[in-house]
Amino acid sequence: MAQHPSSKLAQFSERTRLVHAGRDPWEQHGFVNTPIYRGSTVLYRTTDDLQHRRGRYSYGTKGTPTTDSLEKAWTSLSGAAGTVLTPSGLAAVTVGLISCLKAGDHLLVTDSVYRPTRQFCDGVLKRFGVETTYYDPLVGAAIGDLFQSNTAAVLTEAPGSQSFEMQDIPAIAEVAHARGAVVLMDNTWATPLFFPPHERGVDIAIEAGTKYLSGGSDLLLGLTSATKERWPALRTTFDSFAMCAGPEDVFLGLRGLRTMALRLKEHERQALDMARWLQARPEVERVLHPALESDPGHAIWKRDFKGSSGLFSVVLKPAGPAALAAMLDGLELFGMGYSWGGFESLVIPFDCATYRTATPWKQDGPALRFHIGLEDLEDLKADLDAGFARLRATA
Ligand SMILES: Cc1ncc(COP(=O)(O)O)c(C=O)c1O
Repeated sequence: MAQHPSSKLAQFSERTRLVHAGRDPWEQHGFVNTPIYRGSTVLYRTTDDLQHRRGRYSYGTKGTPTTDSLEKAWTSLSGAAGTVLTPSGLAAVTVGLISCLKAGDHLLVTDSVYRPTRQFCDGVLKRFGVETTYYDPLVGAAIGDLFQSNTAAVLTEAPGSQSFEMQDIPAIAEVAHARGAVVLMDNTWATPLFFPPHERGVDIAIEAGTKYLSGGSDLLLGLTSATKERWPALRTTFDSFAMCAGPEDVFLGLRGLRTMALRLKEHERQALDMARWLQARPEVERVLHPALESDPGHAIWKRDFKGSSGLFSVVLKPAGPAALAAMLDGLELFGMGYSWGGFESLVIPFDCATYRTATPWKQDGPALRFHIGLEDLEDLKADLDAGFARLRATA
């Protein structure tokens, strides 16, 4: 290999970029991967170099060859101008928001947003003089009606956390841009592989790398990417907070990146099969998965997305808390716990009515969010089948 392909990445397809982006073995003595650089202090050879900050790196919080590798790779994959790496997905959301808001601004946030993001808006942003209005995730171009003279940004998430509504991102972006507002999107579910955020009008895209980038439920990481216009403000805000990710987590994120396309395809296949199986179950009222033809968001998903991942929800027919507990507590393969995107299957009960403010969440039965992992599907179905039997027996 005379010259590593990373030097002319743009001409390669997405899959090739996923393997080669952000690494140059010839800078690492021929080793395939950029190793973990740990460090705070970066030395300068002379006083002149120090005074002029002359050198590729200046201080640990501002970047290392390891963080450079993942930032560059994610920037290439997302079609962005730049990326910052944060210590969690939530930090990626908050740094993105702060980079485009100031006291006195108004912010529009989808009612289906990841709940801790809502807490940040209602708590920290409010204290610093930013007012948030939550909007119906299905609003589309009618978002224009909610604009105030001081609306500076619109935060989207598609599909919605837990409830899986599809948002018409291009329509929202068109209206927001016409009014000079910044469009942010939590793109964790699709990743840039299944939804190229900046191509679709998103200015600042957020990924909880904790999920599919990791693929192992063993790290915490966030990635915030931005277009040319929004990049300088994002980078400056990030540097001001020194909100840098840990070197081991970044290294593991790079490792996850190389196989992310394969894993996502398998999560997609398994989850779609499971979603269809659940649709046919007598205990299930409704499956919330935008890639299902029956889903109200299917047309938008088909138009804008290139795939679906392993996370979706179901609403069950009415059942009491004891029956639900009997079903869930006895599961052998599905773990119960927060986060998702790892190799293992998970389930959690949820109730959007406890926190939504702009749109009603009226379901007669309990709701469950599933993450379908890489186990054998027949084993997973048998586990759920036994769970449904316990549910029926307890009802
Ligand atoms: C959609 C979405 N965004 C952001 C996050 C936050 O990621 P992290 O757990 O790394 O803070 C999560 C976590 O569950 C999530 O589901």
